Amino acid sequence: MVIQHRYKSPSGKVQQAQQLENLYAKCPLFRARNPSILSSRQRLPPRWKPANCRKYTLPSANVKCRACADSRFSSTSPSKHSHKPNNEENFLSERTMLQIHGGKRLEGEVKVSGAKNAALAIQAGCLLCEQPMVLHNVPDLVDVANMGEVLQSVGASVERDGHDSNSLVLNCSELTSSSPSLESVVKLRASFLVIGPLLARNGETSVPLPGGCAIGARPVNLHIRGLEALGAKVEVKDGVVHATVGPEGTLRGSRVYLEYPSVGATETVIMAAVVAEGETVIENVAQEPEIVDLANFLVSVGARIRGAGTKVITIQGVRSLHGGEYTVIPDRVEAGTLLVSAAITYSNLWLSSIVPAHLTSIVTKLEETGCQIKFKDDNRLELIPPPELLSTDIRTLPYPGFPTDMQAQFMALLTVAKGPSVVQETVFEGRMAHALELQQMGARLSVAESTAFLEGIQEDHGGLQGASVAGSDLRGTAALVLAGLAAEGITKVQGLQHLDRGYDKLDQKLRSIGASVERISMDNAKD
Ligand code: UD1
Repeated sequence: MVIQHRYKSPSGKVQQAQQLENLYAKCPLFRARNPSILSSRQRLPPRWKPANCRKYTLPSANVKCRACADSRFSSTSPSKHSHKPNNEENFLSERTMLQIHGGKRLEGEVKVSGAKNAALAIQAGCLLCEQPMVLHNVPDLVDVANMGEVLQSVGASVERDGHDSNSLVLNCSELTSSSPSLESVVKLRASFLVIGPLLARNGETSVPLPGGCAIGARPVNLHIRGLEALGAKVEVKDGVVHATVGPEGTLRGSRVYLEYPSVGATETVIMAAVVAEGETVIENVAQEPEIVDLANFLVSVGARIRGAGTKVITIQGVRSLHGGEYTVIPDRVEAGTLLVSAAITYSNLWLSSIVPAHLTSIVTKLEETGCQIKFKDDNRLELIPPPELLSTDIRTLPYPGFPTDMQAQFMALLTVAKGPSVVQETVFEGRMAHALELQQMGARLSVAESTAFLEGIQEDHGGLQGASVAGSDLRGTAALVLAGLAAEGITKVQGLQHLDRGYDKLDQKLRSIGASVERISMDNAKD
């Protein structure tokens, strides 16, 4: 149970804080990632008076720590459950926030960066390469740097190219360890993707359960079952997944059926199978463009993979993978976020470096709100806003369905559309925290489990108002930034440690097209 407090500061401003009464509050990583959530022992802001306190149940309330999904964690064993704080960059992000003067029209063209989720999987895949690898179009993100640390902790060298800051030079030819360090792994969920390559390459590995956005339980059972289907022996003990290849000394190609088309589990099984002995057929796989990009990268370094992008992937194992050069695909979620920034501010915007086919579901939903999208030159598009944004309904699904990573941003958009909309999250059970923050900005909506019911703009209700809000996950924080662009007055968005994990200089890009977005220190900010 969570108590949500709303405080009136001495100057009369209402601010929200949540107080956890249960065991989540004792997990240091959860607290580090959710600075607006106070533990029951923390002191309330001095001289602030409670107003409208109310209780609600966490959508995914269970006995697992939401930050690391570690079910060992309980109120009786807090000392066993310690995570080191995030790196310095994240630490700085926690002390800054974005100040947005809303209501400005945007105009111009933005180049979309490389895809975070493809880059992270491909970085993990580089652990299979016995020769150096150069990756191009790698976004400048805290998550990418953190993944680099995971690779370095097993002996790889990972550096940005001195001549091209978007390129990463990796040398995984000689690994010194089969087990990445705990402090590197807990910083990002995608760190768990090293389990497949390390197991395949070294015959054994021990990978701590990962960190990542607190958007649901996020188990790794499908990854583990996939590895077991390839003949691995896997044991989970004290929060660490230990895997070995068994007496034959190698993984064996097999038929693997994924109960759910998990992106991560599909990637784990692909990376383990490319150097397994014989043929692997993986059924009910994820079809996301990032899966196709991982497969294309692996093929470029010698793997034999067919069917990526369809429901069945077939892999013929090869002895080893070499090195080379590879260019990561553009980020469809960044593209979608920028498109919403234009729609929500009724602005004309050009995007370059996009793959039109990756944006189909996002573009379709934007068209339903009345926006026009015109594609040009294979990799550019223009968004033309409607005279009035119309409501629509969203239901997140695995690709090619509407992406869960765009749900929060569309919720922000639909709060200012004319009439009611329904936003339903089906991929992650705990991905609605931004709805509460949007309410602080005047959005009229209610949430029941994983569905939000939005009233939109009504005759008696204008739009969003600037407020102090805090994101508690990556896409939710982006949604608050978008809401701030459309809101009347000043919005202050905290939670940049989440935003910087996954967006390559979003604030700079928005400024370049006319948004008034400034990064300010929380220490200097009033209230
Ligand atoms: C990836 C993306 C993330 C995106 C998500 C869904 C990366 C680094 N992250 O996350 O941005 O939101 O895909 O498109 O690529 N599940 C299980 N057992 C497992 C694995 C997953 O039950 O072993 C469940 C999850 O709890 C979740 C659902 O499957 O409810 C989807 O998860 P998955 O597709 O695996 O997402 P990630 O790979 O974690």
